[in-house]
Amino acid sequence: MLAFIGGTGLTRMAGLTVIAKHGITTEWGDPSAAVVEGELAGKRVLFLARHGDPHVLLPHQVNYRANIAALKQAGASEIVAVNAVGGITAQAPTAAIVVPDQIIDYTWGRETTFFDRRVAPVVHVDFSWPFSVSLRQRLVTALASVHAHAINGGCYGATQGPRLETAAEISRMERDGCDIVGMTGMPEAVLARELELPYAMLSLVVNPGAGKSDVEISMEEIEAVIHAGMGKVCEALTAMVSAA
Ligand code: HPA
Repeated sequence: MLAFIGGTGLTRMAGLTVIAKHGITTEWGDPSAAVVEGELAGKRVLFLARHGDPHVLLPHQVNYRANIAALKQAGASEIVAVNAVGGITAQAPTAAIVVPDQIIDYTWGRETTFFDRRVAPVVHVDFSWPFSVSLRQRLVTALASVHAHAINGGCYGATQGPRLETAAEISRMERDGCDIVGMTGMPEAVLARELELPYAMLSLVVNPGAGKSDVEISMEEIEAVIHAGMGKVCEALTAMVSAA
């Protein structure tokens, strides 16, 4: 079953008919919210609100291990994660939807593995290509089918937050090769890989990264772009499910 993780601006999914809400506990703790089982475009899907429902958890407070483990327990076989991001390069203008193909992790102090319980053999998962190629392709096709302003590929830089970055940090990230910046892509992506769940991301650019515009980044501006853009995101996800 396809599972969605909704980020900022996507606490509940438009068009999803709720069938059941599963209060799941895992050996890693409780997920951010109940796992919603529902029907979208006539197909069974799962949905989890990354920051809780209502949205109360900051990016560093999310129990990513419990979230991924709970989705797996609920029957997820693949995950599409939605997030709001800042744009760094010209490839990621505000209001565009990016389907990234790479990640650089700048977060710290988060629980980043399921494999830290000192059992042999020690596991190092391959993470050269952090996203599922076929899931990404399905997302790109679905985005095109709803005429979204979509960008196929880009590097997602994951920062710790909850504060936004300094202009110097964004410049450094640009030199590193990041196109977009968000706070939740890691460790979520690697945990999905560890549980062998194909994972891809759909990133709505909601503001220019720090220092990339003349005005201060405001939550009002971000919320307006989210409000305008999440409808398209849901349309694309529905088209993707419908095509499966
Ligand atoms: N930086 C980090 N995370 C974000 C941003 C940003 O500018 N915008 C939305 N999420």
